[in-house]
Formats: sequence, structure tokens, C-alpha cells
Amino acid sequence: MSERQFSTIGVIGLGTMGAGIAEVFARNGYDVIGVEINDEHVVRGREHLEHSTGRAVRREKMTEAEQKELLDRITFSTDMADLARADFVVEAVVESLEIKKDIFRRLDEVVAPETILATNTSSLSVTEISTANAHPGRVVGVHFFNPAPVQNLVEIVRTVVTEPEVLEAVKALVHQLGKNPVVCGDKAGFIANTLLFGYLNHAVSFYEGRYASREDIDAAMRFGCGYPMGPLALLDLIGLDTAYEILDTMYKQGRDRLHAPAPILKQMVTAGLLGRKTGRGFYTYE
Ligand code: CAA
Repeated sequence: MSERQFSTIGVIGLGTMGAGIAEVFARNGYDVIGVEINDEHVVRGREHLEHSTGRAVRREKMTEAEQKELLDRITFSTDMADLARADFVVEAVVESLEIKKDIFRRLDEVVAPETILATNTSSLSVTEISTANAHPGRVVGVHFFNPAPVQNLVEIVRTVVTEPEVLEAVKALVHQLGKNPVVCGDKAGFIANTLLFGYLNHAVSFYEGRYASREDIDAAMRFGCGYPMGPLALLDLIGLDTAYEILDTMYKQGRDRLHAPAPILKQMVTAGLLGRKTGRGFYTYE
């Protein structure tokens, strides 16, 4: 068992994943400091959290008092210096290696040298991100799944220099969140996305080739295979921009045709059809 005790968690980036991760920690009694780049993004992150916990209140899974308590455990900031007292930091900003490396570089000046630093990257190299930090042995990947409050898996990505004690501590922390940790090496896609995205990409090709309607492609996998969502609806949930980035990175690393992004995916991203978050993707949302 790990000796480490965690009480204050820093979350950098409060988009869909970051806000979901902040909610998971706050739900489990941790104090959370959420950091965003500007006030507008802070407002968006706060709204996301209010909406998500509001849904739980409406479904009578949480009382209004519990919702308030949960939200009160989260403080918001636009200054990374406010992470000084965090004993675990998760970065969940856009999938840009440069931006992520810059954050891990700046974290050296902010947190104690033993504070564990994690990235929620889906497909970038955790090793490369970790080398921006003066203490790469304390860096791991913690890959949550969307929606983070619901999906019970966290992939913990170890690099060749991640300290075993850090890995054990993060595993114990994930268990405390009521989620299942799996450990994997630093290869684009990790375990789940490597297996999932070839399938999703194939479904987009079917749709692009007018082989079947979007509804029938999705119905086939839901009712024939018992998946909770069809592949096109799932892509809308993940975000087509995120999906494109993940496929493109996996394709560039492995050069396998399975992951060469279907052309229509890029076109939809260019046209701003990113899925649920923009109100339109393969489907249209209110
Ligand atoms: N935030 C918080 N809670 C949410 C939520 C959200 N965004 N969406 C759904 N929920 C909760 C609901 O409140 C509900 O909770 P209770 O059971 O406690 O009432 C529960 O989830 C079920 O929701 P619904 O009844 O509204 O809908 P559903 O039964 O159709 O489930 C779903 C919705 C959970 C999204 C389900 O369809 C599902 O699991 N889909 C597959 C999702 C998936 O594969 N995710 C992985 C994507 S890949 C990834 O994330 C990796 C990456 O790097 C991109």
C-alpha cells in the first residue's frame, strides 16, 4: 500500500474532461483547485459542473445540499501559482504537445518536488510531456473516459522513468475514486483507444460510403452487440476534433490503415461539426 495521502487535487483545464475529472474528485471528498486560462473558460467550466451535478439532483441521486457541498469543494483560478498546495495535479488541456510541455515546465516553479503530476492525454507521448519537468519520475498518464463521472476506467500510463512508488500511489488513488485502474506503457492510444478507434473509424467509412444510414449503423451495434451507444453517437460524445486528433496520432505512430482518419471526419471538423459540444456532428442536438 502507498503511504501517500492526498487531500488537494489540482485540475488544469476545465473542458469536458477536466470538469468531469474535477467532479469525480469533489464527489469523493477531495478539495479541488481548477485552473483555466481566462475568466471566460472558468465560467464555462463552472457551468459544466453545475449542469452535470444538476442532472444528478434532478434524478434524485443527490440533494441540493450535497450538490452545494460538492461545488463548494472546488475553487477556480486563472493562476497556476494557486496550485502550490496541491498534492496531485491532473492536466486536461487541449491535445497540444507544446502547451502540455509548457505546463509541465511551469509546474516545477509552483508545486513541491514530490507532488505527483499527471496528464489526461489520450494519445500524446506521456514520456515527452514528462521530460519538460525537472522530475520526470513523478509524472504519469491518468486517462479518464467520457463522461468521466460515469465511466469506471482509468488507464494509468507509466513511462520508462515513472517511479514505482508513484505508480502504486496513483493506483490506490484511482481505487479510492471507485474506479478501476489498468496500467499500460506509453504507446499512442494506450489500451482502450487502440482497440476502440479502429472500430469507430470503420463506422465513419461505412457512413461516408453510404453503405448504411447513421441510425442503422448505430442500431446494429446497440441492439446486435449490446454496446450502450452506436459508434457515430459515441463519436459525437467524444468530439469529432478529439477523435480526429487521436486517430491521426495513432496513424502517424503505427502507419496502419485502420487508423488513417476517414476523410469526412476532417471535413466535419473543418466545418465546425464537432458533435454534441457544438450542437451538430453526425446527429443534431438541441
Ligand atoms: N456527466 C455526468 N453523468 C452523466 C453524463 C455526463 N455527461 N451522461 C450520463 N450521465 C449519467 C446519468 O446521470 C445517469 O446516472 P444515474 O444512473 O446515476 O441516474 C447515467 O449516467 C446514465 O445516463 P442516461 O440514462 O442519461 O443515458 P444512458 O443510460 O444512455 O448512458 C452513457 C449514457 C453513460 C453516455 C452511455 O451511453 C455510455 O456509457 N456510452 C458509452 C460511452 C463511452 O464509450 N465512453 C468512452 C469514450 S472513449 C474516451 O472517452 C476516451 C478518449 O480518449 C476519447
